Amino acid sequence: MVTIKSKKEIEYMREACKVVALTYKEIEEKIRPGMSTWEVDQIAEKTMRSLGAIPAEKGYNVGIRGIPPYPASTCISINDEVIHGIPSKNKIIKEGDIVSIDTVALKNGYNGDAARTFIIGDVPKETKRLVDVTKQAFFEGIKYAKAGNRIGDVCHAIGEYVHSQGYSVVKEFQGHGIGKEMHEDPGIPNYGKAGRGIRLEPGMTLAIEPMVIQGKPNILELDDGWTIITEDGSLAAHYENTILITEKEPEILTLL
Ligand code: MF3
Ligand code: CO
Repeated sequence: MVTIKSKKEIEYMREACKVVALTYKEIEEKIRPGMSTWEVDQIAEKTMRSLGAIPAEKGYNVGIRGIPPYPASTCISINDEVIHGIPSKNKIIKEGDIVSIDTVALKNGYNGDAARTFIIGDVPKETKRLVDVTKQAFFEGIKYAKAGNRIGDVCHAIGEYVHSQGYSVVKEFQGHGIGKEMHEDPGIPNYGKAGRGIRLEPGMTLAIEPMVIQGKPNILELDDGWTIITEDGSLAAHYENTILITEKEPEILTLL
């Protein structure tokens, strides 16, 4: 079911999303080579809790037998890791890495969700382009995130843009509605046909999240039950914001 948020609920969503934005500000200031992904996770958790929020990914259960509850406050995926990398004291961030972080804050019963890919030091031009295209794919998509349009218009715009830049989108994971639940309807794939799917209405809150691979779209899941990597070993990037559909332009709730 797609939920339409009331004025009060939108205020709660704004608050949760602001916590996520501030968490990324804090991470951006502190992240550096030599740091473990566990340390970055600690920064995120402390920031969220200091702002009266709970890291919603911690203990998150997908409800599939055999998949353990998610153990950390963030997903941190380096280079060929696409999404859902588990923070670890043994995983050290190096100069030249791209580090995708995805985190969700729960405040007043509402979730805010965003992802960023950080470039650590100097990287080849082509790597920078991957990160830029992934971010731009979000902005290409939300050009269509307007009341009266269909969700497929957003999906289509993202996929077309990414493909036009010579990259692949991940097909097995998608964006989503968000609110009281981290994942609500509708599912929002990063590809699709324009004119299809639900019609957008003011008060919908959506997490739009392009996951882009430099090489082939195929992915693999590691034995930890969570980490997704590219099959061909090429790099992947992730960029996500929670947005609000309004009568006019969408509002990006997870940017300051
Ligand atoms: N935040 C992710 C998303 O963008 C979900 C992560 S799964 C979790 O939808 F287990 F880490 F929570
Ligand atoms: Co999300």
